[in-house]
Amino acid sequence: MLLETDRPTLPFVNQIVCGDNRLLLPLLPNESVDLVITSPPYFQQRDYGSQLGQETALPEYLSGLLEVFAECVRVLKPTGNIVFNLGDKYQEASLLLVPYRFAIAATEQCAVQLVNNITWLKTNPTPRQFKRRLVSSTEPFFHFVKTNGYQYFLDDFLADSKLPKSTAGENIGQKYFGLIEQSSLTPTQKNMAREALLGMIEEVRSGEIEGFRMKIRGIHAEPFGGQEGGRKIQLDKNGFTLIRIYNNPLKKDAMISPVESLKNCPHPAIYPVKLIEEFLHLLTRPNDVVLDPFMGAGSSAVACVQQSRRFIGFEINQSYCDFAQTRLNALQNTQQAKLWDDL
Ligand SMILES: C[S@@+](CC[C@H](N)C(=O)[O-])C[C@H]1O[C@@H](n2cnc3c(N)ncnc32)[C@H](O)[C@@H]1O
Repeated sequence: MLLETDRPTLPFVNQIVCGDNRLLLPLLPNESVDLVITSPPYFQQRDYGSQLGQETALPEYLSGLLEVFAECVRVLKPTGNIVFNLGDKYQEASLLLVPYRFAIAATEQCAVQLVNNITWLKTNPTPRQFKRRLVSSTEPFFHFVKTNGYQYFLDDFLADSKLPKSTAGENIGQKYFGLIEQSSLTPTQKNMAREALLGMIEEVRSGEIEGFRMKIRGIHAEPFGGQEGGRKIQLDKNGFTLIRIYNNPLKKDAMISPVESLKNCPHPAIYPVKLIEEFLHLLTRPNDVVLDPFMGAGSSAVACVQQSRRFIGFEINQSYCDFAQTRLNALQNTQQAKLWDDL
């Protein structure tokens, strides 16, 4: 592992560089970026003027993409993360499962682990209706890492979607006292259950937890349909088990967002800045370096500027580079104007 002081100066920081990433990536030093987040050309979907995505056979496409992926792995710090977003393709009325084939090959051929497959659910998918199949409305974002020491800030992910504080009243948990009495637990077990219940009620009242559930042997159905596991063991041994409900939503491997459309944007397939911002919250800290080797219309760069991260963007198509730069300039002007307003 490189020490911070040994790191060579990183080129291209906060720049959108117009060129082929297969030539540009080798110019980046080993272990120099904190996050790679990108959406490569999908298989046989759009001609962006680079042969990537235009291959006639799927194996060729996958091997071209894996070459770029291997470079992303090389330039990633050991604490870094990689997020690849890919779309699927039908061939002769059959889904090819391209993204999953890529993810399997990536884990087999490169030294990476797949942490999650996060599904983007589009609220406004292309309304192309078929008589004998459903409208495609999801895309995977694969989250890969190089080591178990990857940086990860779960509390910052979707942090605005906290549940309201507990409104539990005076009666919280009271029904369980009666159920403990009615149960066939031994006197010692009943005492333990009452004590544990009082502790749990206190946790709710002090705001530590949102609520809880109690299961008592012989009164409630066994957890997980009676299959072996920690809760079943507790139920057998103590006669009861308590399940805490925390005051925050489950952080699920799914994100709901509309497809983004921008006025005058020449690019046909951009991803939503809001989604990328959530990945920045989850996987980076301010000032970290984020690389997008397929920058398109600059969505990753916009997310980085808005969230005070540094970025490096590579894009082969000059008109997309120009549009991305215009987008960034407009954003910087707005931020400047806001600074003046706040003075
Ligand atoms: C799916 S788009 C990315 C869109 C981007 N996420 C956004 O929101 O604007 C893929 C992009 O990769 C670019 N591209 C394709 N091959 C490339 C290569 N070899 N080097 C750099 N960019 C490439 C295409 O021009 C296209 O803009």
